[in-house]
Amino acid sequence: MVFCDRHLLGIEQLKQVEILEILDCAEKYVNLNRETKKNSNILSGLTQINMFFENSTRTQASFELAGKRLGADVMNMTMQASSIKKGETLIDTALTLNAMNPDLIVVRHPQSGAVKLLAEKVNCSVINAGDGLHEHPTQALLDALTIRRTKGRLQSLSVAICGDIAHSRVARSNLLLLNKLGNRIRLIGPRTLMPSGVSELGAEVFEDMYLGLNDVDVVMMLRLQNERMDGSFVPSRREYYHRWGLNSEKLSCAKKDVIVMHPGPMNRGVEIDGTLADDINHSVIQDQVEIGVAVRMGVMELLARNVSRQFLKGG
Ligand code: CP
Repeated sequence: MVFCDRHLLGIEQLKQVEILEILDCAEKYVNLNRETKKNSNILSGLTQINMFFENSTRTQASFELAGKRLGADVMNMTMQASSIKKGETLIDTALTLNAMNPDLIVVRHPQSGAVKLLAEKVNCSVINAGDGLHEHPTQALLDALTIRRTKGRLQSLSVAICGDIAHSRVARSNLLLLNKLGNRIRLIGPRTLMPSGVSELGAEVFEDMYLGLNDVDVVMMLRLQNERMDGSFVPSRREYYHRWGLNSEKLSCAKKDVIVMHPGPMNRGVEIDGTLADDINHSVIQDQVEIGVAVRMGVMELLARNVSRQFLKGG
């Protein structure tokens, strides 16, 4: 047992062996989730609260399914209908829910660092389901397991992350994880959508898709995060698709057995051609969604184990 933390707040804090332990634990749930009877009782008696302050389909649904399949009592807070709307702060909201003795809180929040702040105020485990531009650790873990299951390994791969890097917590978490596991990362996109200090991120940077995709094993496409942009970062959607949208012509620069990934939600015809997104010869986008449930089950199993060990030790 190497992953001993109470919370999962980011990939940055994880060592290579901890990442591998989480992936190995999640692996068994991929098979369980394909059975008719999908449940286990590992979290029986525990209470999980999902607090999503930003919209979500995949992450919220998969955390809810993951908790229920493991036997937890799961409550989804509807933040739009909560007392946040009457002016209650994030911290007061967290303290209020904490008083109801949950064992696990899953949080998505538009501010970078908000989930860590909340974790410092509550007694239970906290999972970061995406905080601002900062991190989306379970997305990077599910991407990693998808790559490992498809490619048969998770090191010495050439991975291109393409599009709106500047506003993407998915890109940041994936960069951290894939670098820790010994892969070569390329960031491809317009200069306006590269973060400041991009040269220090441990990746090669390309503006040209044809050059950047040359001989890569994995292509990760990203959505333009318009909700995080204040101003115009790209000429037009049409021009963006022409230069940075993934189509089969650009993909032909990559290795023959390249896989195409996208964390979703996708904008077909903007960052990716719709037919290519559905082409099961390359696209593993639906596999990512499936494996997302298993990864969240694995993370929750390990956090519950860590808390019960601390409890037994009187920690
Ligand atoms: N990938 C991801 O976070 O998707 P949702 O916003 O639908 O949860």
